Amino acid sequence: MINLIKAPIEKELENYEEFARKAIRSEEPLLNSILDYVFENKGKSLRPMLVLLSAGMHSASPAAGLGKRTYLAAMLIEMIHTASLIHDDVIDESDTRRGHPSVNARWKSRNAVLTGDYILARNMQAGLESGQYDLLTYVSRAMGELCEGELSQSDHSARVEMTRRDYTDIIYKKTAVLIGSAAALGALAVGAGKEAVSRMRRFGDYLGMAFQIKDDILDYTGIDIGKPVGNDLREKKITLPLLALLEKCGPERREELTALLRETDSRPENVETLRCTVIEEGGIETARQVMQEYVQKAVALLADYPHSHYRTSLATLCSYVAEREK
Ligand code: IPE
Ligand code: IPE
Ligand code: MG
Ligand code: MG
Ligand code: MG
Repeated sequence: MINLIKAPIEKELENYEEFARKAIRSEEPLLNSILDYVFENKGKSLRPMLVLLSAGMHSASPAAGLGKRTYLAAMLIEMIHTASLIHDDVIDESDTRRGHPSVNARWKSRNAVLTGDYILARNMQAGLESGQYDLLTYVSRAMGELCEGELSQSDHSARVEMTRRDYTDIIYKKTAVLIGSAAALGALAVGAGKEAVSRMRRFGDYLGMAFQIKDDILDYTGIDIGKPVGNDLREKKITLPLLALLEKCGPERREELTALLRETDSRPENVETLRCTVIEEGGIETARQVMQEYVQKAVALLADYPHSHYRTSLATLCSYVAEREK
């Protein structure tokens, strides 16, 4: 499915990768080996695909090539994402990423923090030197919101409490904003008007909400997802599958379940107990329904575009987000 999505932008994706690899490098040997490692294990590249597909769909002459400004847009987004994952694995104390040891597991947390910072710094530098300030302004807002989302999540998991509103706000900030920015930036990069940019932003925001809900589902049900399963519960994070259950049970049962979550440090077996409970009692099903609603809202926003390979790929990307197994 992912190859089908990529088909209209295969060459453009290669161009972007080369562009990014050139911009983010270092003469410092340790940093350079970490960067090699990070670029070799690059993940699904969903966000740069989104930038390029959105650019293709809005460009007057996509066949002539999307150009450097679009590659820069893809880089700005994907490097923020990459740095945020390196930092995320430090924050979540996670030792596996993309099927390999995480940067913190292999080089220690202090080096992971600095590598993430370095990627962000070089990313901003490349943006500034290119003089494409509109793109840079757009993404810098996303970076701030991502941090706010992470901080709010950390605050809520320390207190072991969560409402539907908190959850929605957190996943919007930590994940949807960047995916929404990817879709918007692609349009902006090729000179689309305000209305189109904001339509793509909404498209990406919905897709991003669905994407994070699916990620939270996979944390319960995933097999071989390239990162640890059950990590959210270990970190006392109440995500939608558990939240859905807490919402529908009475106060006593709710207290019982949150007590299990509060004690996962001294009783690691609670993680498996909670995971099975959530699966057996329909938490996944409710989360899946909410995810599907977001996917449908995203798909609906594509309806007014004329048929093109780009539009088809964006629609397929929506199905992929819901169906993916990693
Ligand atoms: C993982 O994102 C982090 C979330 C926002 C859920 P991806 O699943 O896009 O990570 P990679 O880049 O493919 O590894
Ligand atoms: C993704 O959330 C947060 C980021 C924006 C980095 P997770 O903590 O759930 O991401 P994974 O599951 O580790 O990829
Ligand atoms: Mg996290
Ligand atoms: Mg994590
Ligand atoms: Mg996750």
